[in-house]
Amino acid sequence: MLNLQTDDQIWVENVISKITAKMGAVSERSNSKIPYTTSNGEHDNQIEKDINWWTNGFWGGMMWLMYHETGTQKYKEIANFTEDALDACLHQFYGLHHDVGFMWLPTSVANYKVTGNLESRKRAMHAANLLAGRLNLVGGFIRAWNDDTTSEDTRGWAIVDCMMNLPLLYWASEETKDPRYAQIAMKHADTALDAFIRPDGSVNHIVEFDPFKGSVVRTYGGQGFEEGSSWTRGQTWALYGFMISYKHTGKQEYLQAAKRVAHYFMANIPDNGIIPIDFRQPNEPAYEDSTAAAIAACGLIEIAKAVGEYEKEVYLKAALKLLKTLDVSRCDWTTDSDHLLINGSAAYHHHDNHISIIYGDYYFMEAVFKLKGNELFLW
Ligand code: GLY
Repeated sequence: MLNLQTDDQIWVENVISKITAKMGAVSERSNSKIPYTTSNGEHDNQIEKDINWWTNGFWGGMMWLMYHETGTQKYKEIANFTEDALDACLHQFYGLHHDVGFMWLPTSVANYKVTGNLESRKRAMHAANLLAGRLNLVGGFIRAWNDDTTSEDTRGWAIVDCMMNLPLLYWASEETKDPRYAQIAMKHADTALDAFIRPDGSVNHIVEFDPFKGSVVRTYGGQGFEEGSSWTRGQTWALYGFMISYKHTGKQEYLQAAKRVAHYFMANIPDNGIIPIDFRQPNEPAYEDSTAAAIAACGLIEIAKAVGEYEKEVYLKAALKLLKTLDVSRCDWTTDSDHLLINGSAAYHHHDNHISIIYGDYYFMEAVFKLKGNELFLW
C-alpha cells in the first residue's frame, strides 16, 4: 500500500480528471491511427508509415488504461482496432525484433487480461514464441535487432531496453504453466545483471557479445551521448525492467538491481526535476527527455510498493517530484493538441529531440494510475 498523503491524493485525482478530459478529446480524433509523435499538435499514423515500429503497442495500451479507468466502450474499440492492425507484423515477420513485448503486452495481453479474448491470447503467445526464439544460448542473451536495422553485424548485440520485453515471456509461462519462457527471461536478466549494470548503478545501453563464444566484446553508447555515458531512458528501462522481473520471479537480485539503478538515478535528478537525455551529456547541446522521467516514476513507485514502510518514502518522493514536474511544466493539457507530454527525445545524436513521443504519454498515465491504486498492470 502506498498510503499517499492527502495533498498528493488530491493531486492524483486532479491529474486523472485532466487525463480523462484530454483522452476523451484525443481519442475522437485518433480513433483510426497508431500514433508515435505529433506534428503541429496532430498525431501521425504509423499504420501508414511503419506498422512494425516498436512503439506501436502504446496507443492501444493507453486506450486499455482509459477503458479500465472509465469503462467507456470507445476506448476498447480503439484498442481492438490497433491490435488488429498489428496482425500485419505477425504475417510479415521480417520487420520484428526483440520489441515484440512493447508491441503485444499493451495490446493483446491487455485485451486478454481484460476481456479473456482467446484471439488476443493467441497473438500474444505467437509474439512470446518469437521473443523466446531470439535467445543466444551460449551468451545467455536475447538478441536485440536483426541485421536490416543497421549496416553493423548485430548477431551479438543485446540492449538494456529488452528488460521491458521480458514480461511477455513471464506472462507466457504464467499462462501456459510451461516454465521455458520464464527460464529464457531469467537467463537474459541474469546476463544483464552482470553485463549491463555498472558498479556505480549506471547502465550500458548496448552490449556486444561474441555470438559463438558468449563473451562480452564491447559496449556502445547507443542512444546516449557516448560509450560509458548514461542514457537516461536506458537507466529507466533497467530500473523498471528489473523491478518487473522481481515482481514475476521474487528473485532478490532483481530487486537489488532495480534499487541500485534507482539510487544512481535519484542521485542524478536535477533540482528542477527535468531529466536530461543523458546524465553525462555535455552542457551544450543539453537535451532533455520527458519519457525517461515518466518511466522512472513507474519503476520508483513499484519499488515503493515492494519495500518496507520506512524505506518506501524515498522512492515515492522521487516519483512524485518527477511526475509533478511533468504535470506543471511538460504536459500539454489543452484538448486541441493530440500529445500529452512535450520534450521527449529519441536519442542524443538524433534529429528527433524535444518532440512528443507516445510512450511518454503512456508511462505518465500508467504512473498516475499506479498512484491511484487501481492500476491495470500490463507488464
Ligand atoms: N527502445 C528504444 C528506445 O527506448 O528508444
